[in-house]
Amino acid sequence: MNLEAIANEILERVGVKKGQIVLDFGCSSGTYTIPAAKIVGKEGKVYALDKDKKAINEVIKKAESEGLKNIERMDTSGELKIYLDDMSIDMILLYDVFHDYYFPSAEDRRKLLDEIHRVLKQDGSLSVWPKHMESRAKDEIEQANFYLENKYSVTLIHDNKDIEEGEILNFALLTNSAHNQNF
Ligand SMILES: C[S@@+](CC[C@H](N)C(=O)[O-])C[C@H]1O[C@@H](n2cnc3c(N)ncnc32)[C@H](O)[C@@H]1O
Repeated sequence: MNLEAIANEILERVGVKKGQIVLDFGCSSGTYTIPAAKIVGKEGKVYALDKDKKAINEVIKKAESEGLKNIERMDTSGELKIYLDDMSIDMILLYDVFHDYYFPSAEDRRKLLDEIHRVLKQDGSLSVWPKHMESRAKDEIEQANFYLENKYSVTLIHDNKDIEEGEILNFALLTNSAHNQNF
């Protein structure tokens, strides 16, 4: 199976669907961005956000060569603010980026999660590959008013080239009503 087929399989399993608005936070050169754009199709959109301009250039180059017009680049300087409207996103991919290397301070990780919480739609999902932070990510994310909805054991692509087994965690927003249902 080629890399794109692997990424496609993961994204379909975690719930990326036609017509959705997806934010790929820390998209790098687009391992998951390009397949996500193909799944969401013309009615959907993928925001490709990264602080690495060159990596986003690569995403856009690939998108252009494949005729994909539904990827919007979001260049940042690594700030924790996400320049998107409240409750505007169906699915946020946080793959191999929510960890100590990029966010050494727990306070910054919490700020990022608060921004993710703000931009997700009420019925949206946060899909996390907690690479390098396997044992702590779940607790931190749950403390930021999310709850674990699903876990997927999958074959993943690391650094745009290596194949490895891992676990994706999907979270939903903990709203008062969802919280009540859990008790
Ligand atoms: C290890 S790569 C993961 C890329 C991709 N998500 C994947 O799984 O293939 C992490 C990416 O997150 C980006 N990144 C790290 N901290 C960031 C921040 N604060 N804002 C935006 N991008 C960030 C890095 O530039 C890098 O491209």
